[in-house]
Amino acid sequence: MYMFDAKKLMEEAAKARSRAYVPYSNFQVGAALVDEDGNIHYGCNIENAAYGPTNCAERTAVFRAIADGHRPGSFKAIAVIGDTDGPIAPCGVCRQVMVELCPRDMPVIMGNLKGDIVQMTVGELLPGAFDKTSLKG
Ligand code: THU
Repeated sequence: MYMFDAKKLMEEAAKARSRAYVPYSNFQVGAALVDEDGNIHYGCNIENAAYGPTNCAERTAVFRAIADGHRPGSFKAIAVIGDTDGPIAPCGVCRQVMVELCPRDMPVIMGNLKGDIVQMTVGELLPGAFDKTSLKG
């Protein structure tokens, strides 16, 4: 099984961060998602003058990987980095998207430019999530 190194994955996320398109917030975020073969899918935040269409780094990485042919639920880990005081906290929308498309026990490694790192699972980041089991019929 592919073993990811949290620090190395964070360095990959930092590479993606430099590609962020952030003319409005000027707040760059990068993500690196590991697939079942150990390959990395990059994501950065991409903003929009209408604000609402902005896509976070985490969602960019997950959506890209799915569009490239990777099965929902097949991912192994994601690292996210931003210039925050403590490790960056993924937004609620990205937590919901990760619940939908990643294993509940998948590690989410959160960091910042100072090298602070914390790791939690997708399930821990969104307890009591509304998911496919919540839908009846
Ligand atoms: N953002 C991310 O890309 N990921 C996060 O985890 C937090 C927020 C982006 C969205 C927006 O482009 C900018 O950071 C400021 O909210």
